[in-house]
Order: sequence, then C-alpha cells, then structure tokens
Amino acid sequence: MLTGAGVSAESGLPTFREAQTGLWAQYDPEELATPQAFRRNPRLVWEWYAWRRQLAAAAQPNPAHVALAALAQRVPECTLITQNVDGLHTRAGSVNPIELHGNLSRVKCFDDGRVVEHWQATADPPPRCPDCGGMLRPDVVWFGELLPRTALDAAIAAAQACDVFLSIGTSGLVEPAAALPRIALQCGATVVLINLDVPTRATPPLYAINAKAGELLPALVDAVWPTPDSIG
Ligand code: APR
Repeated sequence: MLTGAGVSAESGLPTFREAQTGLWAQYDPEELATPQAFRRNPRLVWEWYAWRRQLAAAAQPNPAHVALAALAQRVPECTLITQNVDGLHTRAGSVNPIELHGNLSRVKCFDDGRVVEHWQATADPPPRCPDCGGMLRPDVVWFGELLPRTALDAAIAAAQACDVFLSIGTSGLVEPAAALPRIALQCGATVVLINLDVPTRATPPLYAINAKAGELLPALVDAVWPTPDSIG
C-alpha cells in the first residue's frame, strides 16, 4: 500500500498542496523544497522544515495510521510505502515503512550527504555538519532530487508482486510514487484508490472510494481482515 499526505490530514498536518498557514502562507511548498531554494536562502528553508518537524512531533497518529499498522498484523505479507516524511506510520506501530521521500526527524550534511543524528541549534541556522562544517539540511527528498534507490526498488518490487494495492490519501501528482498503483494494476493486482477526490470512473480491478482515510480504513480493515475479537 502507498500513502500520501491525506493519511496524516486527520492528525492535523496540512497536506502538501493545501494552502499553507500563518507565517508560511506566502510560500509555495514546491518553491521551498528544492536544493536551489536551500542554496538561495538556507535559513528560510531550514526554518520551514523546523516548523514542519515541530508540527509532526506534536501530532498524533490517527485511526488511519493505526488501521494500517493493524492490517500488517492480519495478513501474511504487507508492505507500507509512504510519501510522508512525518514519521506517524512508525509511531502508530508500522514496522519499517518504505519512506520514499525521507523523514523530517533526520538531518544530513548538504555537502557530504552524511546523516547526522544530533545537532546543536544555532542562533544563525542552519546548523553545521560536525564532520565537514557544511550546512545541515533535512533528510527528505527535494524536487529535482532522486529518491533513495533501495527504497524505490523495494517499492516497485512490492507493487509488482502484490495481490491488492491500496493507494491512500495521495493526489498521485508526483512521480515515481504515482506510478506504483499503475505498476500494480499492470501486474494483475486489485487496486483500491482511497482519497477525497478520486476519479469518478473506475472499472475493476481498479476501485475508487471517496472517503476520509481515518474514517474508512478502520472499518475496511475490520471488515476485510477481521480478527477473532473483531468479529461482532
Ligand atoms: N483522507 C483521505 N484523503 C485525503 C484526506 C483524508 N482525510 N485529506 C486530504 N486527502 C487527499 C487530498 O484530496 C489529496 O488528493 O490527500 C491528497 C493529498 O495530496 P497532496 O497534498 O498532493 O500530497 P501527496 O499526494 O502526499 O504529495 C506527494 O508530493 O510534494 C511532494 O514530497 C511531497 O510527498 C509529497 C508528494
């Protein structure tokens, strides 16, 4: 299954393409999430991610995250692929989600790419790499950057091999993640799109359900993959 920002919406985290609020309302995320933006104004980009990191840390996993973690316990094999960088799937109990776009809680050196576990806040952000003195940046994939190869290969292999592919809370605008449901369909899987604006026409084995992830997923998982105590 593939998730996008819509799965974290009910945890209070703005989706990527909904209007930004407050101080960041004047900025388009796609203009901040690039290496060029960071070179142009490293402090602004660092502070935007620091704000998003705080939002994610203060947010709680919602029933959608919990249902997907429960699903993995009820089926013989399940791969969770996420475009989200908020870490909420892991906090909900999902084990080793494939984080295609990285994770806000990690930072790395802009120059040598080394992931840095701990960094000192500075009066003049971004902080510096303890190794080479380069600027630190969030360990997320920016527009124009390649996805981590191992993560992408694992996601494609899962899409090719699965019987059922759930695509949840994603606009499907950003490649290569957007190709995964298509790959699953081409390889004979049943594909279910769960979103707030799903295509009106979907013919089996493609299904489209217009619903909030946090409302639909608990009921769907219990109905399709019941456990002994959930069979009422
Ligand atoms: N339940 C289900 N779907 C929802 C909900 C909800 N409660 N709330 C919003 N949505 C849907 C929206 O209708 C939208 O189609 O979630 C989708 C979120 O789409 P985007 O904001 O485009 O986020 P996403 O698809 O995850 O973006 C993919 O693009 O910009 C990059 O790296 C960024 O990971 C991001 C990627």
